[in-house]
Amino acid sequence: MTIIDLIKTRRTIKQFKPDAISEEAVLSWLEAASYAPNHRMTEPWEILFLGAETRAKLNHKTNFGGAPVVLALLSKPAATPFERDENVMAAACFAQNFLLAAHEAGVGAYWASLGALPHNRATLGVPEDYDVIGIFGIGYPEEVPALKPRSPLASKITYLT
Ligand SMILES: Cc1cc2nc3c(=O)[nH]c(=O)nc-3n(C[C@H](O)[C@H](O)[C@H](O)COP(=O)(O)O)c2cc1C
Repeated sequence: MTIIDLIKTRRTIKQFKPDAISEEAVLSWLEAASYAPNHRMTEPWEILFLGAETRAKLNHKTNFGGAPVVLALLSKPAATPFERDENVMAAACFAQNFLLAAHEAGVGAYWASLGALPHNRATLGVPEDYDVIGIFGIGYPEEVPALKPRSPLASKITYLT
């Protein structure tokens, strides 16, 4: 698939097969993801792999769709609010790279934002000055939802003189 095809066919997956995914594969997608743009080479991403005990404490409504792998993506602190925003943006680029690398291998992901809630941050042991970008369930899709159509791009563009 071309990169355009990968971008357009990726879906948020909410139900996974129980089939295992090799740790080596997951690490290779994370390594590829680390080529994301990041200002001043802060490389702000940090990853927590979540075991069964932590998953249970997070009490997610579907236990991340039964995903065999669940990880949390964090963005590390910065000296100023501006740089902190930059770190979060870079970490989001990392996330998208990861999603696309996994998707190329036929693996889907569920991006859940509940990790940023105060009690879940405590469960993850995240220091106050870190941002939780998301918690990702990762696995082979049980079902792939239909495409959610996007607005015409023209409605998003303004040309300045
Ligand atoms: C920052 C962020 C947080 C998200 N959090 C959730 C979430 O908590 N629960 C959820 O069901 N989907 C979550 N999503 C996934 C979106 O709902 C999903 O991307 C959107 O519906 C478009 O579907 P698609 O990814 O299949 O194109 C999140 C996506 C992003 C980028």
